[in-house]
Amino acid sequence: MLPKRRRVRAESPPRAGASSAPPPVRFPGVAIYLAEPRMGRSRRAFLTRLAQSKGFRILDTYSSEVTHVVMEQTSAEEAICWQKNMDALLPGSPQPVLLDISWFTESMAAGQPVPAEVRHHLEVPEPRKEPPSSVTMPTYACQRPTPLTHHNTTLSEALETLAEAAGFEGNEGRLLSFSRAASVLKSLPCPVTSLSQLQGLPLFGEHSSRVIQLFTQVFGVGVKTANRWYQEGLRTLDELREQPQRLTHQQKAGLQYYEDLSTPVGRADAEALQQLVAAAVRQTLPGATVTLTGGFRRGKLEGHDVDFLITHPEEGQEVGLLPRVMSQLQRQGLVLYHQYHRSHLDSAHLLRQNYTMDAFERSFCILCLPQPPHAALVGGLQPCPAWRAVRVDLVVTPSSQFPFALLGWTGSQLFERELRRFSRQEKGLWLNSHGLFDPERKTFFHATSEEDIFRLLGLKYLPPEQRNA
Ligand code: CTP
Ligand code: MN
Ligand code: MN
Repeated sequence: MLPKRRRVRAESPPRAGASSAPPPVRFPGVAIYLAEPRMGRSRRAFLTRLAQSKGFRILDTYSSEVTHVVMEQTSAEEAICWQKNMDALLPGSPQPVLLDISWFTESMAAGQPVPAEVRHHLEVPEPRKEPPSSVTMPTYACQRPTPLTHHNTTLSEALETLAEAAGFEGNEGRLLSFSRAASVLKSLPCPVTSLSQLQGLPLFGEHSSRVIQLFTQVFGVGVKTANRWYQEGLRTLDELREQPQRLTHQQKAGLQYYEDLSTPVGRADAEALQQLVAAAVRQTLPGATVTLTGGFRRGKLEGHDVDFLITHPEEGQEVGLLPRVMSQLQRQGLVLYHQYHRSHLDSAHLLRQNYTMDAFERSFCILCLPQPPHAALVGGLQPCPAWRAVRVDLVVTPSSQFPFALLGWTGSQLFERELRRFSRQEKGLWLNSHGLFDPERKTFFHATSEEDIFRLLGLKYLPPEQRNA
């Protein structure tokens, strides 16, 4: 598993090699015994090295010296039974505390033994402590609300990083399983604190469970947002700087504006851009409209780019609009880079069941956004730049397809995939950003709003803020 290897290396404990003596014991009052039954030998060895590297004393065999017994996925009944057997071997010695792995994990994170609290003691699990299982968690993300802020950010980010890494490797299957698992966590009404809570949740495979186990139990993770530029064609910066001849024109632009582009775009910048783009569009074609889509429409406060949908109420008027809008923006000196994709709309395209790229006229651009003058000085020292580079997607749609394009470009990406999968598998209909097609009757559905489309699919309407799957 690639990212695990990458991320774990930095934090993993040193191997207890023959050459290196174990680090000194820092907490003489604590002697831990890791009870193996549910832990497994290699995990126990791993946890032992981790603890020793942090100065904890781990005893390999159970003896009267043990002060803390740590168990994993063990019920109180089992633990007490285990202790009785052990006490029979060591009659009269003081009884160590029986603790859940959570005490161990927290102590590792703290770098010292944390006080053993009630919640760390092995207890008979209370009924109804677990989040809803598959009964109340529908399979498809488009059947359940997914808010922007939820209770499992760390875990979902971790899984999304793994999804992204799988994508880089070209492993589509794994990318999807990780994305779906991450999305399930976002829909949960409470934080996941133990593995057992995941049982019965849809799409939560063995692999994702193991990843969660690693993260919840050992590292407490601080996952960085993976670098979106990789996906858009860039690899490491140093690698690129060494080989400028290998760069495409787009990559050179990306590298040039890398600093700006790896700084998230805020909502205020997105709104300022909307003003600029809308003015240029109106000037080019009166009556044409500009709608903010993508993450910002879902309520995100930051994004890696800003997505706009352009249309005109009179169908046909929008044809050829984009090159003229781009020229207008260029005359204003606002275009740092752009790559134009002309429309390849034709019925053959619309009818293909499985194409994922849509066929709208669109432009992948990097625009220059003037920064407000009141921020001209930061801390009195550093002059604030007069502008910043922003990634912008401009997409043009005929008005009859607008609701489908709006739904398709609002995202999230996983929400869209799930919506299409739901349409196909549950309703036998093909959905994309151009329309909804019934392959049996060979007809397209008409829709004037996103609500219409949800209705046609037999789904309860979810507003954009609940599509952050
Ligand atoms: N999209 C698409 N076709 C593309 C690129 C994107 O249909 N060639 C859709 C994606 O599926 C997504 C939406 O456009 O639903 C927005 O994509 P993107 O900007 O990549 O993601 P956001 O959700 O806006 O996230 P961010 O805030 O990071 O930009
Ligand atoms: Mn976006
Ligand atoms: Mn985008």
